[in-house]
Amino acid sequence: MGRATGILPSAIEAIGDTPLLELSRLTRDVDGRILAKLEYLNPGFSKKDRIARQMIEDAEAQGQLRPGQTVVELTSGNTGTGLAIVCGVKGYPFVAVMSRGNSMERARMMAALGAEVVLVEQSPGSVPGQVSGGDLELVEREAQRIVRDRRAFRADQFHRQGNVRAHEQHTGPEILAQTGGAFHAFCDFAGTGGSFAGCAAAFKKYDPHIRCYLVEPEGAAVLAGLPVTQPNHSIQGGGYSMPHLPLVRPDQVDGYLQVSDQEAMAVARRLAREEGIFAGFSSGANVAAALQLLQGECRGQTVVVLLNDSGLKYLSTDLWI
Ligand SMILES: Cc1ncc(COP(=O)(O)O)c(C=O)c1O
Repeated sequence: MGRATGILPSAIEAIGDTPLLELSRLTRDVDGRILAKLEYLNPGFSKKDRIARQMIEDAEAQGQLRPGQTVVELTSGNTGTGLAIVCGVKGYPFVAVMSRGNSMERARMMAALGAEVVLVEQSPGSVPGQVSGGDLELVEREAQRIVRDRRAFRADQFHRQGNVRAHEQHTGPEILAQTGGAFHAFCDFAGTGGSFAGCAAAFKKYDPHIRCYLVEPEGAAVLAGLPVTQPNHSIQGGGYSMPHLPLVRPDQVDGYLQVSDQEAMAVARRLAREEGIFAGFSSGANVAAALQLLQGECRGQTVVVLLNDSGLKYLSTDLWI
């Protein structure tokens, strides 16, 4: 027997290096290919584990986080789950501040991983399962109060460069290595825009001709400059009608795509039935947007998407009924 080379020191090192696969059954009747990165196979079942690790390790390296200091984050659940894992392993208390509009699986999972979960009521008129920009403002206020009271470190995924760096240094380069750089376009449903910005930076550095598209909910496509007609939508994790995303550089955006709740859900269900991939609403949105591209300006080409999180996080929603 030789030296063991397959044992990781903790769950943190199990983050990343996810598989990429071709959705050949879903694209049977369209001209082109979709390559999907299975981010739901991360330890917290979402891509946000990557930024949790990066933001905490950056803060440690820069002396911004003291041993034992409390970490606080506003989260739709996935970043919080990643932070609960990373903070749990490293010994930092973690407080997740989340809207009650997000699915309860996420709150339970964060609590199970040792997080203190603070749920903030939605604004009057908001619908459970549909978190609006207004709901998010209430969560932000509560997060700021807790940071002040506990002298905590705010992970701050909407502003920290670690959010972009995680994808620029890992997700993007993994995709370039897995494909040999042989793809034409990338489209991504934006929450903070960190995944989009990081992957776009890596792709455009490799080949400026790779086109990068931002995906938004139909009726809440503010980044595309369209009027907001429907701020409440079902695609959890993004589409917050924020006209400016600090992490996204406009010169990285080659176009904007819109996906309805119905399209996102229909494609998420097709992913499950036809491809054996059990992912959530925003993964359905990304693949629906990629299908739009193959039926339009990317006909005959290859589009890359991220499958952001697991369908298990939505068992209490109407996605699977
Ligand atoms: C399920 C899901 N999809 C998409 C996103 C958006 O990703 P990003 O914040 O990198 O734009 C998030 C972010 O929390 C998410 O949880």
